[in-house]
Amino acid sequence: MDLNIYADKQTVAEKFSKFFSNKVRNNKAFHIALSGGSTPKIVFDFLAENFNDEIDWSRVYLYWGDERCVPPDDEDSNYKMTKEHLLSKIEMPAENIFRIKGEDDPHTEAKRYAEVLEKELPQANGLPQFDMVILGMGGDGHTASIFPSEIELWDAESYCAVATHPESGQKRVGLTGGIINNAKTVAFLVTGESKAEKVEEIIGQKPGYKNYPASKVNPESGDLIWFLDSDAAGKFN
Ligand code: 6PG
Repeated sequence: MDLNIYADKQTVAEKFSKFFSNKVRNNKAFHIALSGGSTPKIVFDFLAENFNDEIDWSRVYLYWGDERCVPPDDEDSNYKMTKEHLLSKIEMPAENIFRIKGEDDPHTEAKRYAEVLEKELPQANGLPQFDMVILGMGGDGHTASIFPSEIELWDAESYCAVATHPESGQKRVGLTGGIINNAKTVAFLVTGESKAEKVEEIIGQKPGYKNYPASKVNPESGDLIWFLDSDAAGKFN
């Protein structure tokens, strides 16, 4: 486990951007699944404003690790967030973008997106393989859209599953553990004080840590990299 702790969110964004840019430079085609929420906003802004010319975006193929079941122009949409903070600022061919259709029936979309992964991604270990999956972690230890209340979804046979947010009841479509752990690289972007408790429990393997979906992130490749700010790193600082 590669644990990187930086002073603040901006530095996390800068360091991850350099890391991502180097990965793309070394790959003719780079298939990446993005996370949602607020942390990626800072990262995407930094990427777009500082690495736009350095990255050949035609080499990058964008997918999502999860999406809220809302239309693509809804405030809650991860696609909308990515469009505002990244896609609207870079030259990326439309055919390189594979969004999860939050506006469609969740179960139908989970099936369709699994077929997209099967068709578009290279295979490894008998499964579609991402070059990189970016993950965030919620204060409850969820990752992607796998919440502690539905932790069994992590081990679902299907590549994508329909999840339900435990508070809002909002439906989501997202990747399951088999696909996440089949990625060549998993980058955990975790910032903010609200994550410190779970970071300590999960990285410190404290009693009960296995109850959190984020603890199940363990890519076959062994290439798991944490990008933490000091607030989230808490005692690991
Ligand atoms: C989502 C994300 C989710 C997110 C965490 C952390 O759709 O909300 O995929 O898993 O990564 O909730 O979110 P923050 O970065 O906003 O804390």
